Amino acid sequence: MLRHLTSRIKATGPITVAEYMREALTNPVTGYYVRNDMLGPDGDFITSPEISQIFGELLGVWIVSEWIGAGRPERLQLVELGPGKGSLASDVLRVFSQLQSVVGGASLSLHLVEVSPVLSRLQAQKLTGSHSREADAEDKPVYRRGETAAGLPVSWYRRLEDVPTGFSIFLAHEFFDALPIHKFQRTQRGWREVMVDIDPEKTEQLRFVVAPSPTLASSTLVQADERRAHVEVCAEGGVLVQQLAWRIEADGGAALIADYGHDGTKTDTFRGFKGHRLHDVLSCPGSADLTADVDFSFLRRVAGEGVACLGPVTQRTFLKNMGIDSRMQVLLRSCSDASTRQQLIDSYDLLTNAAKMGERFLFFCLLHRGRLAHPPRPDGPKLEIRKKRPAPPPVAGFTELSFS
Ligand SMILES: C[S@@+](CC[C@H](N)C(=O)[O-])C[C@H]1O[C@@H](n2cnc3c(N)ncnc32)[C@H](O)[C@@H]1O
Repeated sequence: MLRHLTSRIKATGPITVAEYMREALTNPVTGYYVRNDMLGPDGDFITSPEISQIFGELLGVWIVSEWIGAGRPERLQLVELGPGKGSLASDVLRVFSQLQSVVGGASLSLHLVEVSPVLSRLQAQKLTGSHSREADAEDKPVYRRGETAAGLPVSWYRRLEDVPTGFSIFLAHEFFDALPIHKFQRTQRGWREVMVDIDPEKTEQLRFVVAPSPTLASSTLVQADERRAHVEVCAEGGVLVQQLAWRIEADGGAALIADYGHDGTKTDTFRGFKGHRLHDVLSCPGSADLTADVDFSFLRRVAGEGVACLGPVTQRTFLKNMGIDSRMQVLLRSCSDASTRQQLIDSYDLLTNAAKMGERFLFFCLLHRGRLAHPPRPDGPKLEIRKKRPAPPPVAGFTELSFS
């Protein structure tokens, strides 16, 4: 990977941080996500769905509640972006099978957007056992199909635009932070893009440089009223959120995005992880996870007026609003083994403790505007139509609800 990047830089000059990140993570041959199973204690990092099944179960309840709030449409596509090991989808599907009396009438299908062949095989094993097959040609939009034990169809895609249209609930957990960011520095001559170049002092090593003149990205992606001295913009994430917003506006549904992030306040968040430790982002590209905090204020801005946005709220608030405490009590009551009880308590603490993942991770959602009693834009004919209907139920997770 380093040789590939240095020869490219020698041929055409410094590359943007977005190009560097895209190559390092998703190059089809040597990209970090394409070659590795990086999740879990033996990998480079651990995520909430891998920490406790309760996490996926509560997201499953959220999906069911949004499906009910949308008037129980007959067909429901569950779409997950970047499904990792498939644990979140598996826990969500268990909720659906346990709530058959509620969701039994819906025709459910699962759609997974995943670039990694290694991870897609793990997902297939977890979700379908041996009941999945790869497409016979590499360029097919659906590159794998399968069926869960309960007969639910599962399809794999490399890109969101290949997922069929229709009422869908989209999930993206720790997905947007893996998308390439551009970095910009305020200078005395205006905004300049941060680039990746070869370090002239040390052969075969990379360094950051500031572009001497504006690039297309620095002229178009920085807001005119930006006050920070350094900003990161994930243009690819912006395009994806626009696609989600258009789909939700046209076909109904919702998107739940959970990630570590901020609301337009942070500056330099680009970092690497290897073996659960911080890793120099420019060292050994392709061997470590690269990530940047998600700027939710940017996602809200690009989502536009066609959908309603809620959040971000902290993971702690979301999980508590979703009833994690009641669920914990039920699990602890039925668990007599001391070490399993301790494990449950530890994972609850990791997920909700403000000093751990509880406040670092944020939840944000896009909704069809008809889903809210008072959508953020309070004028226009839609409000008149809504007045004649009963008020829709509150959106779980983003509002405090009582659970029994
Ligand atoms: C940080 S992992 C998160 C996995 C999982 N959602 C979890 O929370 O455990 C990022 C996931 O997104 C996938 N991914 C990264 N970039 C992608 C892209 N551009 N398109 C599709 N999938 C991508 C990775 O292969 C991986 O499955």
